Amino acid sequence: MHLQSEKKFTALSFFSGGGLLDYGMKEYFDFIWANELNPQPALCYKHNVENHIVVGDIESIIDHTPSALPEVDVAVGGPPCFDFTSNNTAGKGQQGEHGKLIWAYFNGIKLVKPKAIIFENVIGLYKKHRSTLDELLNSFRAIGYQISLGSLNAETFGVAQSRDRLFIVGIRKDLGFTFRFPQPPHVHKTVRDALSDLPAPTAVNQPILVPNHVVTWTSPTPERIHDLMLHPRNQWIGARRLQWDNVSPMIGFNIGKDGRAFLHPEEDRKITVREFLRLMGVDDSFVIPDTVKITNQYKLIGNGVAVPVARALAETLHQQLRDALSN
Ligand SMILES: C[S@@+](CC[C@H](N)C(=O)[O-])C[C@H]1O[C@@H](n2cnc3c(N)ncnc32)[C@H](O)[C@@H]1O
Repeated sequence: MHLQSEKKFTALSFFSGGGLLDYGMKEYFDFIWANELNPQPALCYKHNVENHIVVGDIESIIDHTPSALPEVDVAVGGPPCFDFTSNNTAGKGQQGEHGKLIWAYFNGIKLVKPKAIIFENVIGLYKKHRSTLDELLNSFRAIGYQISLGSLNAETFGVAQSRDRLFIVGIRKDLGFTFRFPQPPHVHKTVRDALSDLPAPTAVNQPILVPNHVVTWTSPTPERIHDLMLHPRNQWIGARRLQWDNVSPMIGFNIGKDGRAFLHPEEDRKITVREFLRLMGVDDSFVIPDTVKITNQYKLIGNGVAVPVARALAETLHQQLRDALSN
């Protein structure tokens, strides 16, 4: 679909990170406001989405300058998932410093009352924190939204990574419809499909052939790599080798300092930032500026939404909103 001549709906984004969700949606929605606490991912957002991102704490904005939030058609966001992640046994849920921010998202929605909302988080919110999820869904209903809940795995949208995420989509009741999630196209890609056309990464201080495709660090140690090669089944958190003919396992924000947790399928090195972006379905025109520290580059990608999933949600929501408003 080409939207050049069609009206785009306006959007704002909470917890915008490096902007993967918004980058995937921006063909369909015009992001006029965004917010992120950390200035480092915000640099990436500015470079790839829009320059307007406000750096600061969302709770403080809502409490002290609520009029800063513009009127928009759609609001999106993925509050930090750390306290809801299934493998985080110490996760404090909504009592946690991060977990409580789902209510900042809710309070933002209550102020703006957009036509539609998209909320993204980990499946652990459904599996381990169901009463919190129910409380959140009922709160959205109570302020006038018709709610749809779904999970989408990036793997079924042509991304070479198994990455299942929970989405809440709310439609303001006066619009008179319930959101229907996009059907996955079931296009499957392997790590080979995603990475094999890349040239060898360049070393630091050499001319860069592909942006963000640079070897910056040799970790894990040669001893660990040697052990992995001798015992290919002996994989452990901290160094796992990707398989050419499979999808990548889920790669989270805790990919390890400088991204050392995942090794290239056959070269004895960690994956580059470009390879990680490719494993999130991000095209090569998305470039993370050098002003973002390398650890933060990996982290912002691991925090992000796989771009083809974001795009499919955006296309579907755009179409359903347009149909409802033209009736
Ligand atoms: C899961 S990430 C969002 C990723 C984004 N949706 C994407 O696709 O790239 C959550 C973000 O919330 C930010 N954050 C955490 N606490 C915040 C706060 N109090 N105010 C605003 N942003 C916050 C984090 O720095 C992080 O970048």
